[in-house]
Order: sequence, then C-alpha cells, then structure tokens
Amino acid sequence: RVAPEPYPEGRPVQVVAHRGASEDVPEHTLAAYRKAIEDGADALECDVRLTADGELVCVHDWRVNRTSNGRGAVSSMELADLAALDFGSWKGQNADHEAPERFDGEFDREFDEDADRGLRGSGRGGPGDPGERSRVLTLRRLLELVADTDRRVELAIETKHPTRWAGQVEERLLELLGRYGLDRPAPGTSSQVRVMSFSARSLRRVRLAAPGLPTVYLMQYVSPRYRDGRLPAGVGIAGPSMRIVRANPGYVARLHRAGHRVHVWTVDRPEDVELCARLGVDAIITNRPRHVLAQLGR
Ligand code: G3P
Ligand code: CA
Repeated sequence: RVAPEPYPEGRPVQVVAHRGASEDVPEHTLAAYRKAIEDGADALECDVRLTADGELVCVHDWRVNRTSNGRGAVSSMELADLAALDFGSWKGQNADHEAPERFDGEFDREFDEDADRGLRGSGRGGPGDPGERSRVLTLRRLLELVADTDRRVELAIETKHPTRWAGQVEERLLELLGRYGLDRPAPGTSSQVRVMSFSARSLRRVRLAAPGLPTVYLMQYVSPRYRDGRLPAGVGIAGPSMRIVRANPGYVARLHRAGHRVHVWTVDRPEDVELCARLGVDAIITNRPRHVLAQLGR
C-alpha cells in the first residue's frame, strides 16, 4: 500500500482545460491547448490512447469517427495512419459544436514545425492533404508544449482503455514522462503532472512504478464502498463528475475530511461553477476555461 498524499490547505481552485479550450477549438488539438494556455488555464486535461505501433496519442473516443474524417479504432491504426487524418474540420460541421472559424492557419504552422521531428506521418502537405489543416496530437508534442511554456502549466493525463493493454499504456506513459523529467516532482515543488483514470488498477500501476506522481480516481457514480469519502488505496485525489456533486454536495466535504483533494468534471454551467467554488473544490475541469476564470474573477 502506498500512502495518499497529504491534503494541502488553502490552495485556490485550479481551472483545468478539458481536452484543451475545447469549447472554442477542436478538442485535443495543439491549437486547443495553446488557446487554453493563452486563456490562462492552470492545467490541461488530456486523454491518451495507444496506437498499434505504441505511440500515445491524445484522442478521447476509442474510434476516430467522431473527431476526424477517418473511421476505425485508434488501437488498430499506426501513428502515420492517424497523422493523415483531419482532426479539425469536424467541429464546424457538428451542430452541437459551432466553430467560429476554421483553424487551418494554426494547423499549417504546427504541421510545418513538426515536419522535422518525424511526427509528420504520411501527410505530404500537398493541396487537400488533411494533415495541413489539423492533425492528431501525440502526448510527446503536448509535453513539449508544456515544457516550452514560460509559466507553470500542470497536466492531468487520463489513461483510456487501460485494461485492454494490460499495463502498456502506463508503461509507455511513464517512460515518456521520465524522458521529460515529469515522472516525479522537481525538488521542493509539487508534481506538474498527475494521472487520472476510471480504472483503479491503472492508477495502482502508476503509483507502484512512480510513487511521486499524484493520481486521480475518476467517478461517474459513487460505489457504495467509497461513499464515506475513502478512495482506492494510495489514491490522493477524487475526480467525481459534476452530476455526483450536484446530487450530493456534501460528498465534497466528506472527501476533504478523508484527506483527499477534489477535482470535478466537466463544469461548464455558471451555476455549477458557483456551486463548486462554494464547496471549495480543488479543481474545476472545464471545456471553457476562459469563462470559468472570468467568473472566478481571475
Ligand atoms: O476529466 C475527467 C473527464 O474527462 C472524464 O470523462 O469522458 O471526458 O474523459 P471523459
Ligand atoms: Ca478525459
């Protein structure tokens, strides 16, 4: 058993950009994370999945169908296959997500910058090449963005589908974080990265291999064994959904009393932001960091 981290008192609520500034910009693209940083977000949330050739990419769904012009499972595609798809144009075409503009300029610049890093995949940059407009984001590229940012921005990385890969997602994740010196806190500081999951097993793997990394146990509902505010052994942070908090605001205090910080997702409605602030949650995970920061007077 690994002891949970102590609960630091008096920390202000963190605003975490869910999938980047994903209300304004297509989710999980470099442009979405750039925008979140510009907007002043304290932290960035991203989901990671393994490709068939062992790359970690930032994609939420198990298939690429919703957020790209391709079809198929991320796990069955190589990075080069994903790099040929357009992960940007869908947003403007989806009635639920009216994009104010297309993001071609941003993607073009990124595409050129990444050409030398071997991340360009099969895209060739010719007319009509979807890679020119938008491209899948690797975790490696996101770590570079965070490293290049001139202020501290934290990263909340969610392992997706960890059971299918029996440890490979976590292994690859920790290897990558290690390369950037992000698999443990720098001396005298708190960790810049935390790992989140709905899977307690995935978090346990992380804790055992990298005890310095905080872990967040995500909850869509509260299992009877955790109703009293306890979490799976060694997990320091609770990640209840906004629906849980709305239905049972007292649960936040219970988690705090048990020594856990509380990171709530996905908090977009002003009344939910207000409730979270009133309850003293530790992080608000939102698709609209700009609006939440403004509402909190920051
Ligand atoms: O931040 C946690 C939240 O992202 C979990 O739900 O489906 O958006 O990954 P989902
Ligand atoms: Ca997520």
